[in-house]
Amino acid sequence: MKESRRHFSEISDILRCFDYVDEAVNILDRDGVFLYANKKVEDLYGLKREQIIGHDIVELVNRKDLKIFDVMESGKPMVDYEFSAVLRNGNKAYFLNNIYPVFDEANEVIGVCDIYRSYKRSISAVNKILGFHATYRFQDIIGDSPGIHRAVKRAKDYALTNKNILITGESGTGKELFAQAIHNYSKRCEGPFIAVNCASFPAELIESELFGYEEGAFTGARKGGNIGKFQLADGGTLFLDEIGEMPIHLQAKLLRAAESKTILRIGGRSEIPVDVRVISATNRDLLKMVRNNEFRTDLYYRLSTFSVEIPPLRSRTEDILALAVYFLNRTAAEDENGPKTFSAEAVQELRRYSWPGNVRELENVIYRIVINCKTPVIQSEDVVNNFGFARLESASAEQRTKPEKKVGPEELRGALAATGGNKKKAAELLGISRRTVYRILNQR
Ligand SMILES: Nc1ncnc2c1ncn2[C@@H]1O[C@H](COP(=O)(O)OP(=O)(O)OP(=O)(O)O)[C@@H](O)[C@H]1O
Ligand SMILES: [Mg+2]
Repeated sequence: MKESRRHFSEISDILRCFDYVDEAVNILDRDGVFLYANKKVEDLYGLKREQIIGHDIVELVNRKDLKIFDVMESGKPMVDYEFSAVLRNGNKAYFLNNIYPVFDEANEVIGVCDIYRSYKRSISAVNKILGFHATYRFQDIIGDSPGIHRAVKRAKDYALTNKNILITGESGTGKELFAQAIHNYSKRCEGPFIAVNCASFPAELIESELFGYEEGAFTGARKGGNIGKFQLADGGTLFLDEIGEMPIHLQAKLLRAAESKTILRIGGRSEIPVDVRVISATNRDLLKMVRNNEFRTDLYYRLSTFSVEIPPLRSRTEDILALAVYFLNRTAAEDENGPKTFSAEAVQELRRYSWPGNVRELENVIYRIVINCKTPVIQSEDVVNNFGFARLESASAEQRTKPEKKVGPEELRGALAATGGNKKKAAELLGISRRTVYRILNQR
């Protein structure tokens, strides 16, 4: 009997406990021969334990990237290492692997303890810990207008299908609110809700954000690679906000993922199956972008199997009061000056205003009124006085939906200097998107 195997024989009875564990647990000697494998390993490989124990891992397992020998060599554990294996039933499975070296009394490595669990389970643990779930439901959507009723009715019908949905509407109309409500109303409600704002990443980062990358895919790539949002959303919903900002070269890759239901990581060779429903949203005219060759036609149709349009607030004035009261009540608890109500004239002012920034603007105006108005009844002046700030805001909201003005590197440099290098603030100052800031910087 080999020296290394003698070390383990005494504990074999205790090892039976591991047959009740959901993780696959192996113990291998220094030569890579199986000394122990729990029941999970039998199940995964479709082999009896007699066919595993005493056999060489290299011959037995179709794993190209065996790290156990690296661990034995270095004497250092390797944790959360990802690998894929073709199971006996022909299916490819992904695992997260921990390999711990085992030492003898003389501190020599005599083998490894090799533990792995299905990647899917690790993902759902991550989602649970990070709280990737949708909070809003349809009952949280305030409004009684025919326009909002129609949008909710459609969204509910579509939620029950498994198809992709495109949500359109001006800035601040509640697109994200609808996306969350659709997810929570769908069969996928127990799965993750993962949101990606396509406008908040420079183009070159969106790809790795969405699809992930393999170790060594590019300089600065994290060891062990990185999971993308597509895979994180497996079994749930991926919300692609501001889809109109998706760079054209990535649209092809997105289309492929949406059609084949598989993704390819950057630097990866094998397709990973993902079960994801895509809800996308935009405040831009995507059809016009299609006509201008800024957005792929095929992707447009793939993402908008169903589409829901949320009407702007000015076309559903009957919702304004309900929303205003809702936001007022929400702040009542924090309001030191006691509960407030609106005078009839104040309501008139709220209804007369055009709300270019839609519900978000209304929400902000109400908060400002609550802070600035010290009396229990809110008068029309209180409302009008607080529109001032809102106009600025709505101007920038309007700007967001308009084509951007031309900004040169000189002008950007000035803005960056003025904002202490803060790209977000500089973008706001110049009235351009952060994406454009990155683009100009990259041109230099
Ligand atoms: N019908 C509604 N009932 C209650 N709250 C709403 C409603 N519509 C919008 N809101 C609130 O208004 C704010 C803006 O909504 P949301 O973020 O969903 O808008 P959006 O359309 O995604 O805007 P943008 O295009 O600027 O991202 C949020 O705080 C949201 O909770
Ligand atoms: Mg939004």
